[in-house]
Amino acid sequence: MSNPTSEAGSDAPAGIRLQKVLAAAGLGSRRRCEDLISAGLVEVNGTTAVLGRRVHPDTDRVTVEGIDVATKAGLVYYALNKPAGVVSTASDPQARPTVVGYVPADPRVFPVGRLDAATEGLILLCNDGTLTQHLTHPSHGVDKEYLARLHGQPKPGALRRLREGVDLDGTPTAPAKVSLVEPDLVRITIHEGRNRQVRRMAEAVGYPVKHLVRIRIGPIRLASLAPGAYRTLSQEEVRSLERAAGGQASG
Ligand code: URA
Repeated sequence: MSNPTSEAGSDAPAGIRLQKVLAAAGLGSRRRCEDLISAGLVEVNGTTAVLGRRVHPDTDRVTVEGIDVATKAGLVYYALNKPAGVVSTASDPQARPTVVGYVPADPRVFPVGRLDAATEGLILLCNDGTLTQHLTHPSHGVDKEYLARLHGQPKPGALRRLREGVDLDGTPTAPAKVSLVEPDLVRITIHEGRNRQVRRMAEAVGYPVKHLVRIRIGPIRLASLAPGAYRTLSQEEVRSLERAAGGQASG
């Protein structure tokens, strides 16, 4: 058994010393961070930490006086409202504008999944490969909610088919949540990520999409973000995404 509080011995202790993680997150010198721990102001996963505590910065939730500490040094997460006409790749052979052009260039981030060029709305960008993998892995099935303005006013039978699943390339789509917001405006929530899925589903039931906006990915909402604007996700939002994706829940 390794000794979790000792640096000595052949077994590497698990995690990084808490004061080192706090100092790296900008809370002052290691000495000052030790004082914060000794004063009982630091919690790890909801439990007051003592000196000698080690943590895993990627998975443990660290707070000082109840406020989240950014433990994952260098990882950034943005929510962008992608305008129509912008491609959601990191670079485009046709030189169209890309989503990465709307967020800071440094550190380099990558889109999490795709929106087709004509579709507007919420797209996440980050440099956290693990979270990206979890969110885009088909088995994790994070909900994605869209508002689709259709050509025509869908009848109840068409809405039922959208809900129950329509055949795309020989495979039915998984059950979807579908509701009518206005006679020609549908709210649709899917958890698959098939190519141009909403457009193809709507077309399959006879009401092609006129205008498509993604308004939610799991717990993250587009809300009042203007087209072309981005915001940085909070620590709590990142954690809620990890939980939604069945990844490294920590709190
Ligand atoms: N469905 C679509 O049709 N397009 C997207 O970009 C996403 C889902």
